[in-house]
Amino acid sequence: MIRLLTVVGARPNFMKAAPIIHALARRPDRFGHTLVHTGQHYDRSMSGDFFDVLGMPAPDVNLDVGSGTHAQQTARVIEAVAPVLEAAAPDVVIVVGDVNSTLAAAITAKKLGLRVAHVEAGLRSRDMSMPEEINRLCVDAISDMLFTTDPIADTNLIAEGVDAKRIHFVGNVMIDTLLTHLAQAEALDYPGRCGLARGRYATLTLHRPSNVDSPERLAGIVEAVTAAAGAIPIIFPVHPRTRRALESAGLIDAQNPTAAGVRAVDPLGYLEFLSLNRSARIVFTDSGGLQEETTALGVPCVTLRENTERPITVLEGTNRLGGVTRDGILAAAAEAIAQGAAPARRPEKWDGRAAERIVEIIDRWAPQAA
Ligand code: UD1
Repeated sequence: MIRLLTVVGARPNFMKAAPIIHALARRPDRFGHTLVHTGQHYDRSMSGDFFDVLGMPAPDVNLDVGSGTHAQQTARVIEAVAPVLEAAAPDVVIVVGDVNSTLAAAITAKKLGLRVAHVEAGLRSRDMSMPEEINRLCVDAISDMLFTTDPIADTNLIAEGVDAKRIHFVGNVMIDTLLTHLAQAEALDYPGRCGLARGRYATLTLHRPSNVDSPERLAGIVEAVTAAAGAIPIIFPVHPRTRRALESAGLIDAQNPTAAGVRAVDPLGYLEFLSLNRSARIVFTDSGGLQEETTALGVPCVTLRENTERPITVLEGTNRLGGVTRDGILAAAAEAIAQGAAPARRPEKWDGRAAERIVEIIDRWAPQAA
């Protein structure tokens, strides 16, 4: 029996861990699994709803660390996860993505002498003002197994001196989850329920501190996106961090849920959001995951950042870097709209089988634990 322990904490972690947990559950004779939730995200709409819809088991342990500064959040996870890891003493600790919980769990596990596997390794934006970039670099530097989504990530890791034997190009676990749920999301017809015609609206998400923490920057981006989308409605599911910023800047309030012509709604469930993006004419976002999801769906995406750690979505997919200036956003959106929906051309191994590959590799790698 190989004993694995996965640590998740924030919304994007759940979609990445779910297919791995399901693949492990299909081999109960071979794998034992413990799920730890740090509690970095805790609202039902940011956490519990995703567990339900993705069919994830309730966490075996919840550390309830909650929100705080980067220092507080990272420190709380380190302190709380250490005794859990010590008691469980798993053969491998799996961490996913690049959030603070990923960093804290990886460091703690490694210092306890445990093997660490990082899922979604090797992504690099080269932007050290982005907290996630620091998390990625640190986690990759200490992980024993690095599971990558594309060959560019492998090249990044090799350039940093990582031993090629530790790197495994397995594909994209988040796309595993997307493909599993696509039919269900389409059947839901969330746009139709909101009175939106397919292909006649845009989606917007914003949550990066660099975009939302300055009211001027935030207002400028929202205004530029409104101009870029033209006459079509823009649906804007608002992250809690962004809602706070919009409210404190007076850009939105309970009586005025539409900021600058944008239809602001609460964060959506996984299926609703997938259904919405599936039929959007264009998606504007500063999220990492959404760049990949739109590429898999063949939906044009304008990324509201100057850089991306996911260049494969620009090279092979439907993503364009719009930056954060009005001119940049308008130009990228005009090109994206002119090109229109592309037949979904998925990067290599974004085929719904990434989690299976991870489980096979761990199986082969740890025969001594059997
Ligand atoms: C975190 C991740 C980011 C990821 C994002 C997805 C880090 C460094 N950042 O950013 O990479 O893209 O999650 O959402 O780990 N809040 C709530 N309810 C919740 C959780 C948060 O209201 O359930 C509010 C709190 O006011 C909190 C703020 O959102 O202070 C930010 O949450 P936090 O987890 O610190 O970072 P995110 O911006 O969500």
